[in-house]
Amino acid sequence: MNSLTEALSGDVIICCGSGGVGKTTVAAVIGLELARRGQRVVVVTIDPAKRLADALGVTAAPGTKGGLGNEPTRLVLPGTPTTGELWAAMLDPAATFDGLVRQTAPSPERAERILANPFYRNIAGALSGTQEYMAAERLYALHSDPRFDVVVVDTPPSRHALDFLEAPSTLARFLDHPVFKLLMVPARRGLSVLNVAAQPVLRSIGKVVGGAVLADAIAFFQAFDGMEAGFRDRAGAVMALLRSETSRYVLVASPQSDTVDEARFFADRLHQASLRVSALIVNRSTPTFPKPAVPRRKADAALWANLDELESMATAEHEHLAALAGQVDDAPVAWVPLLSDDVHDLDGLELVRALLFGSGVAG
Ligand SMILES: Nc1ncnc2c1ncn2[C@@H]1O[C@H](COP(=O)(O)OP(=O)(O)OP(=O)(O)O)[C@@H](O)[C@H]1O
Ligand SMILES: [Mg+2]
Repeated sequence: MNSLTEALSGDVIICCGSGGVGKTTVAAVIGLELARRGQRVVVVTIDPAKRLADALGVTAAPGTKGGLGNEPTRLVLPGTPTTGELWAAMLDPAATFDGLVRQTAPSPERAERILANPFYRNIAGALSGTQEYMAAERLYALHSDPRFDVVVVDTPPSRHALDFLEAPSTLARFLDHPVFKLLMVPARRGLSVLNVAAQPVLRSIGKVVGGAVLADAIAFFQAFDGMEAGFRDRAGAVMALLRSETSRYVLVASPQSDTVDEARFFADRLHQASLRVSALIVNRSTPTFPKPAVPRRKADAALWANLDELESMATAEHEHLAALAGQVDDAPVAWVPLLSDDVHDLDGLELVRALLFGSGVAG
């Protein structure tokens, strides 16, 4: 077991880092490694590059809007047979939000009333941080799913990716918002939508947002009445899982100086949240080659110049990385070189896996 494998021995693995550094690739590669070690793993990807999505079997059927992705699909693993399993799913925030409503609603009828409400359909997609929170919610749901031992989760390509760490307080703030309260109170008194809309304050709001929007909003809050506690509890449970002893954070970075700065931002965010980075993966690094022990001949000057340039680039990258590596304490740092082709199929993932974890199949 190398130190990276040891660092990843948790039941939840969260891959974070800035845009395009290789979070989705690394999440899939970690999934592959753990499956080869005999675990039943599900990898939740977020907007994977088209070809990787195809390779993972999470591409939505033509004409559907990503609806298929939320359900995990089992993959056939390359190489030696193992008792482990690799499953992949693509995060569908809207379907996840719907699942949360179904789970929290006191009855299926109430859930359907909410799900069909146009106001709900609008906020489900637009609430700030929804994608981040839904990634965490999905993680929680799959973690409780008896089919899987480990959940590996990718994060969205934004600086807000770690906002899910504050999801419960964001949700609580939303539930405590004066407008929310304003709409809930008349709902609780059992007034009809028309009567509620006729209240002076709401009449003014209705003039601004439009009567139909207001009516939808009121109908939504009436249907939602009594479910806040369920939402809060669930958010608390998700939060506890993110902070649990067995959750691991993998920071993915690339060695260029601007992306190293981004990675330092993520390391800082985790630190502020009192979470530690379990492993740092430096992806797309400049490959280095041992210098041949032969005299430099003039005829080979161009080749030598190439080799020297690669070496000085690699040295510069290690210097850029030093401060970041210092920021992640004793977490192992693993390097993956820039490959000649992108990683778009299981063979490509297997290649990166072997580079990261060694080629042998661990028992
Ligand atoms: N070591 C590598 N060598 C060559 N190509 C790579 C390597 N790692 C990843 N790639 C390619 O780089 C692209 C970006 O990788 P990936 O989609 O994993 O990044 P990401 O961090 O998830 O991006 P986003 O922030 O957009 O979600 C992909 O096309 C992937 O195949
Ligand atoms: Mg990605």
